[in-house]
Amino acid sequence: MARALVTGCAGFIGSHLTEALLAGGHDVVGVDCLNDNYPAAAKLANLAQARDHDAFELVLADVAAASARSLLDGCDVVFHLAAEPGVRSSWGGRFERFLHHNVEATQRLLETVRAAPGTRVVYASSSSVYGESERLPTPESAPPRPLSPYGVTKLAAEQLCRVYHANHGVDAVALRFFTVYGPRQRPDMAFRRFCESAARGRAIELYGDGSQSRDFTFVADVVAALRAAGEQPGIGGRAFNIGGGAPISLNAALEQLAALAGRPLDVRRGDRESGDVLHTAADVTRARRELGFEPATPLREGLEAELGWVLGRERPAPVQRAVSARRG
Ligand code: UGA
Repeated sequence: MARALVTGCAGFIGSHLTEALLAGGHDVVGVDCLNDNYPAAAKLANLAQARDHDAFELVLADVAAASARSLLDGCDVVFHLAAEPGVRSSWGGRFERFLHHNVEATQRLLETVRAAPGTRVVYASSSSVYGESERLPTPESAPPRPLSPYGVTKLAAEQLCRVYHANHGVDAVALRFFTVYGPRQRPDMAFRRFCESAARGRAIELYGDGSQSRDFTFVADVVAALRAAGEQPGIGGRAFNIGGGAPISLNAALEQLAALAGRPLDVRRGDRESGDVLHTAADVTRARRELGFEPATPLREGLEAELGWVLGRERPAPVQRAVSARRG
């Protein structure tokens, strides 16, 4: 890989990937439209380190509208992470955004890549394509039955990758990420909200009784999987689960967070949210075999990194002291 295009470069995963590629000596063109799912200033802050790099070019544009041809110039890999994210926000009037950013943008990108043979596309898919799976851990062969409109659009885009591969030989692969977390996590996601509440001493709002479980995946492990998928020959048309390897209930994860924060958390249990599945667990046999993927970050370590990042931004004295004391 000489030069890579990263769509959604200012987002949580995109900004970490961009930094890792730059650190690895690659040139990166990053594209992002800074859509309004959270403040543009926070997204630009995600790119602070990358923007210092001479090998980084930032294009502020919507992938669906931009001239992808010029973006692709000289790139041999496209990491397509741009999306309208969020399981629970995909109902009602916002759905058209999901269609635009997830489905239309992917189709336009694939049309462009079709005219640039030899370009690898790595599409950021989601565990939400499975819905409430009957098999846990879930292999890629399980029938995709999303439970949310968001999951429907992620699956549609994944299917577009497969269709462009089957008909036009586009070298596209899909990575199905399982609830990625870590520093810079999106503000609507569970661990980000839990860490911020713990940091401020505020109540944590749990959607449901906390018995739902997730195969939480640390962002550095996801970046390693993306890089492997960008380079590995002969995997076009395939989908791969990328999971953390140790599914855990929210209740158990909150116990770990309380230990890290050094104080009990005020957890309030409410109603479950529509579209939310009860359990996810990734069977990563295929990714292990074909991408050499091995999740390396245990939850406690990853959660400590995310809490540390949140604390660094907020600096609320009591918890800060508790964490520094614990680190000794
Ligand atoms: C996440 C991402 O938001 C999706 O973009 C991604 O596609 C998906 O993972 C994936 O697996 O690929 P989700 O599993 O809902 O979706 O991740 P979180 O937002 O971290 O939520 C985890 C659980 O915590 C859910 O059951 C949710 O209802 C719950 N939650 C979330 C709360 O109880 N309270 C909150 O304040 C936020």
